[in-house]
Amino acid sequence: MVIPSLIQHKRDGHPLKPEEWARLVADYTAGRVPDYQMSALLMAVFFRGLTPEELAALTDAMIASGDRLDFDGFQLPLVDKHSTGGVGDKVSLLLAPMVASCGVAVPMMSGRGLGHTGGTLDKLEAIPGFRTNLSLRETQSQVERIGCAMIGQTPEIAPADKRLYALRDVTGTVESIPLISASIMSKKLAEGLDGLVLDVKTGSGAFMPEPERAIELARTMIGLGEARGCPTVALITAMDRPLGRACGHTLEVEEAIEGLSGTGPEDLMEVTYALGVEMLLLAGVARDRAEALGRLQDSVASGRALDTFARVIEAQGGNPEIVRDPAGLPQAGAVEVYRAPRTGSVAAVHPRRIGLAILELGGGRRTIEDEIDPAVGFVITVKPGDRVREGEPIASIFARDGQGIALGTRALSEAVVIGDAGQLTPLITHRITGQGVEMLAGAGAD
Ligand code: URA
Repeated sequence: MVIPSLIQHKRDGHPLKPEEWARLVADYTAGRVPDYQMSALLMAVFFRGLTPEELAALTDAMIASGDRLDFDGFQLPLVDKHSTGGVGDKVSLLLAPMVASCGVAVPMMSGRGLGHTGGTLDKLEAIPGFRTNLSLRETQSQVERIGCAMIGQTPEIAPADKRLYALRDVTGTVESIPLISASIMSKKLAEGLDGLVLDVKTGSGAFMPEPERAIELARTMIGLGEARGCPTVALITAMDRPLGRACGHTLEVEEAIEGLSGTGPEDLMEVTYALGVEMLLLAGVARDRAEALGRLQDSVASGRALDTFARVIEAQGGNPEIVRDPAGLPQAGAVEVYRAPRTGSVAAVHPRRIGLAILELGGGRRTIEDEIDPAVGFVITVKPGDRVREGEPIASIFARDGQGIALGTRALSEAVVIGDAGQLTPLITHRITGQGVEMLAGAGAD
């Protein structure tokens, strides 16, 4: 294979053949194609896109670069969820145990924080001792025992994606719909799922801020899933403000425990239940939406979902007692209340500014080797549209020390905008399936 010719061909807007993609991905994974050539090709894809045939060939080659989870003969339906990422998005922590306690197996495979967004793996690792690097065999045996495992991408699953993603991260080629779709779907399809639910975020804190691009991303991923025998449904959800109140690893684990105990914030529970309903329907364990919602609510009210979370924590090396006493999680050295600087309406709570502030406080990574401080972050108790009075507490800052508190105060003064009017945009705007796009109540109201 003459790589420079392939790069030129793609650069000039011509598609590569499926067998060229297959060979290229296999050779890159085996170290026979250097990063600089692959970077150039990725940039050509970034600008030229991929035809449906190329996208299918790339995704299949990425799946074929590794192993698949093998649940042959397993009785329970297997369903997972993927979120494109946001600020305060701790949905996976609640959703996996809730759905698992409704008789669906959930091999929840998640990622680490990226840029301003937090990652589920980092949140789970705030729990002392929690191991996210289970092997494929450990994952299978835990899902068979408890119905749920919460893991990172194992070295065996789509290793091509692992290398390509790391390269895209440092070459300005992340925000490409075909590359994101192939990346996410290669990992999810290697889980051998019976169904997949996607939470595609839109708004200023999302990787795809414009709703049209978020819908296009969802439709592209759904096309890949459906064509490979994995029924896939997506919800488009708002990320123009943080989800829930807590932003930061320990704080988000605490809020997830509140959610599993029946006292979670309304918006977090709404998104979690909506995604859970889709998962139960795909799994075929509920006849309709009302029954699915009832089963999920009962999993919380009965304590079964919280108990499943505790069992997952114990099975993965953490202390399950933290679900009853979250004080066992790492705690911040300094905490301070933030008060509204004026009377008015909350016009915006900018998620990107909050996510970047967590990074500055030490709660995120600038390089892959960085250690993160799980205890830092914010609890923000107001949403756009809320009326506030000058001096009223509207947030808390969790930092290492006084310098962090000063930094957090500055971030909140920029992120939480108080004006004369504000409006909350709809939380869940579209439901997308292989059949098409359904606008949900309230969509377009902004
Ligand atoms: N998450 C992924 O797994 N891959 C991407 O390309 C973007 C987000």
